[in-house]
Amino acid sequence: MRIAMIGTGYVGLVSGACFADFGHQVTCVDKDVGKIEALRRGEIPIFEPGLDALVASNVKAKRLDFTTDLKAPVAEADAVFIAVGTPSRRGDGHADLTYVYSAAREIAAALSGFTVVVTKSTVPVGTGDEVERLIREANPSAEVVVASNPEFLREGAAIRDFKFPDRIVVGTDDERGRKVLGDVYRPLSLNQAPLMFTARRTAELIKYAANAFLATKITFINEIADLSEKVGADVQQVARGIGLDNRIGAKFLHAGPGFGGSCFPKDTRALVKIAQDHDVQLRIVEAVLGVNDIRKRAMARKVSNAAGGNLRGKTVAVLGLTFKPDTDDMREAPSIPLVTGLLDMGAKVRAHDPVGMEQAKKELPEIEYCADPYECARGADALVIVTEWVQFRALDLARLKAEMAQPVVVDLRNIYRPEDMAAHGFTYESVGRVT
Ligand code: UGA
Repeated sequence: MRIAMIGTGYVGLVSGACFADFGHQVTCVDKDVGKIEALRRGEIPIFEPGLDALVASNVKAKRLDFTTDLKAPVAEADAVFIAVGTPSRRGDGHADLTYVYSAAREIAAALSGFTVVVTKSTVPVGTGDEVERLIREANPSAEVVVASNPEFLREGAAIRDFKFPDRIVVGTDDERGRKVLGDVYRPLSLNQAPLMFTARRTAELIKYAANAFLATKITFINEIADLSEKVGADVQQVARGIGLDNRIGAKFLHAGPGFGGSCFPKDTRALVKIAQDHDVQLRIVEAVLGVNDIRKRAMARKVSNAAGGNLRGKTVAVLGLTFKPDTDDMREAPSIPLVTGLLDMGAKVRAHDPVGMEQAKKELPEIEYCADPYECARGADALVIVTEWVQFRALDLARLKAEMAQPVVVDLRNIYRPEDMAAHGFTYESVGRVT
């Protein structure tokens, strides 16, 4: 199979490299000349474990290449994937489809022979119809099927998620389109990943519904965590106790500082907007967004309370800035409202992140960045763990305490045991546990 992947962001690059690894011939296209030149030199613009090696081996095997011009790869392709960005539109929270539509117009002009054009970007329900209309308008004789194939990979675990998916959703009613995408994903049938064929609009909605449901699960357990603290229960045991029920499932029940990232906040906002456009009110999803926003902002107060109620003139050490481990992504990271809140309360903030500090400096230029957790803790009146990087899971607690001015730790990811922290003489706060 010959595949053209339009857009070398997160989804495009991971999907392109994985398709090439299946044995397909893949060309990744991006308008950003600097990015393409860097990729040709073997430099990967994002941090994703294993991606550099995967790209390098497939480039070496001549199954993967990069270009800024989509004409030749689209003309030769059996399937063209649109994996360009769909950011939140400023002002109204709708997904901004400018990049998707301009990609569709350019693809239209370059099509040759039967081709399946597939939207992989997360796009509102009905976008596939518009992509098809644009292509047919621009190139009436094109032999084309437009399908939806949403992506469910997580940053930091993207390659594993791509190669071992729970399911693959392909949205098109066209038999030839189904056959081509069936062939593209055939290597995954070895992993017994169910290939689910649906209509195009259904596939588009599955993506949003999945992300909104996961965001709801997290928000639900976060509220149960707040209640656990008040009634003296342990939210981790509550999560395990309910998660062992197969109808509920154990995953995505980790209480924390609220969800962030490039997907959940953006996609839940977009889903609410899509529903409003169709005169449907998704009250649960709306509540999830509101609860999560308030939660993220409330975390600074939690730190202040743990440190005695007043942060003016005090120093707070922040461990972990990215929205989750194994990424350098700072988009909608809980650390941003947290640090901003701490600064507003008059605290001085020192921070460390294993990978994300360069990105973080763009969002949070006014704080001090430290080379490691111990340097970060030096002289601090409180230390907050915001992201559960593996590097923070086995800190030398005695050394940490010796560095700090006051032994106060707020663990927003519940990675330490209250009894261990007490044994080391820390005042310890976590999420939804009695400490
Ligand atoms: C998410 C989905 O998990 C993917 O399936 C989806 O493909 C992707 O969005 C997307 O739409 O592209 P991602 O944003 O990379 O993936 O990260 P997650 O691991 O889902 O974490 C999202 C946020 O939820 C993070 O801030 C994380 O800390 C938080 N979270 C997650 C919790 O607070 N508790 C949990 O139990 C799980």
